[in-house]
Amino acid sequence: MGKLNLSGIILQNILQYTDIGIHVIDKNRKTIMYNKAMAELEGLEIEQVMDKDLLEVFPSLKQNTSTLIKVLDTKKPILNTTQNYLNFKGKKITTINSTIPLIWKDEILGALEISKNITYLKKLSYELMNLQLELNENNHGQINNEKRKRNYTFDDIVGSDEKMLKAIEIGKRTSNSPSSVLLYGETGTGKELFAQSIHYGGIRKNGPFIAQNCAAIPETLLESILFGTEKGGFTGAVEREGIFEQADGGTLLLDEINLMSLGLQAKLLRVLQEGYIRRIGGIKDIPIDVKIIATTNEKPLESIKKGKLRKDLYYRLNVVYIDIPPLRDRKGDIPILSDYFIKKYNPLLGKSVIGIHEEVYKYFNKYYWPGNVRELENAIEGAMNYISHDRSILKKEDFVTCPNIFTQHIVKEKFTLEMDRSLPEYLDNIERGIIYKALKDNDYNISQTAKELGVKRQTLQYKIKKYSIDAK
Ligand SMILES: Nc1ncnc2c1ncn2[C@@H]1O[C@H](COP(=O)(O)OP(=O)(O)OP(=O)(O)O)[C@@H](O)[C@H]1O
Ligand SMILES: [Mg+2]
Repeated sequence: MGKLNLSGIILQNILQYTDIGIHVIDKNRKTIMYNKAMAELEGLEIEQVMDKDLLEVFPSLKQNTSTLIKVLDTKKPILNTTQNYLNFKGKKITTINSTIPLIWKDEILGALEISKNITYLKKLSYELMNLQLELNENNHGQINNEKRKRNYTFDDIVGSDEKMLKAIEIGKRTSNSPSSVLLYGETGTGKELFAQSIHYGGIRKNGPFIAQNCAAIPETLLESILFGTEKGGFTGAVEREGIFEQADGGTLLLDEINLMSLGLQAKLLRVLQEGYIRRIGGIKDIPIDVKIIATTNEKPLESIKKGKLRKDLYYRLNVVYIDIPPLRDRKGDIPILSDYFIKKYNPLLGKSVIGIHEEVYKYFNKYYWPGNVRELENAIEGAMNYISHDRSILKKEDFVTCPNIFTQHIVKEKFTLEMDRSLPEYLDNIERGIIYKALKDNDYNISQTAKELGVKRQTLQYKIKKYSIDAK
């Protein structure tokens, strides 16, 4: 009885039952292995291919178009390439292929091709894309957008802080021009509010305003949303206007531009420079007149440094730059914003609140407000839900939905953990940040800051010196 060759049996079964196509040729281009999955992919019978010369079976293949032969010649693998072709039964197939040279002691023995059929997956992904595009159309260009009041104007922007007034002034001046605008601000600082105000406060107000978030949308889908598709542009594509065309004569808000793929950023730049778009799969140049407002919640220069924002696109968008300060840098605006939100929610919630207790403002002034104005608005809306009808001043105990504001005495500072630092250096950096922030919040009053931080005055002074903090 012969020796049981277990690996041989395993291999044979894998070859027969796997849905991955496998084709092996020897160094004379003769097929020595060809499995069922490959035969199905190519629309052939195993017998038509086994033991035959490759070019005999596939006469249309040239020496340099067959990856198997190429790999035989170059001895270098070709990995994960996508191939679209009509198989022998005339079926359209898309595969992902890897072709690998079989080498033993520097000598080439043959080549192996592994092929995975992704036709079905590709079809599914296009169907998904078409569905998403339809959804996008039904929502007038809004995917994943929070419900919001439409048609904001500059009258809706509350603020008396100098930096804020400057931002509003720049916004007002650009509302009558076609120039692009780059809006920078942390989350919840009012970028959408500004974008809408620029549109509805200027000469384009009777044109369309369309907002599109650029984050978390696959590149090909976003490209179709922006530029539209022409029939046959890709499997199942129908003729569809992109939002550039829909926004013609109006404004297009591109949210989170720093999260758009670099490839698409290049295409966007071309559109901005040339003033026309071309639908995917189309040949016609369509002129467009759209004011672009792009937003980002990361400092543009930082995004460029990290390679997330193209420099050339930045320069093109940055014709008008508006920097909306975070709420923690304009705490003087907290009372007027609070009053504004109280007035907004009284009728909506059937309450008659007239103000906020002084003690609450003390906490508000110390808080870091990572969610900015949106966080303040939500805090007030939450408290106004909670307050009983017989009271008219919001107190600390009404803010049940946002305990953070009242527990974080020491304001949070953002630290980046850089792995090239030692632990003591890292901790020093944190300590420095906390002291700096606390000093600023206490108007550089040493005794008060020391008290808040729970350290002795002398200790604080020592640390200020140690970290060379400018304590005014
Ligand atoms: N200065 C302001 N005056 C009045 N309301 C404001 C102000 N700033 C922001 N808001 C309100 O705060 C909420 C968040 O604003 P908006 O959606 O414009 O922020 P955003 O910067 O676009 O945030 P994100 O980056 O998360 O998209 C909205 O309800 C908006 O009306
Ligand atoms: Mg926004």
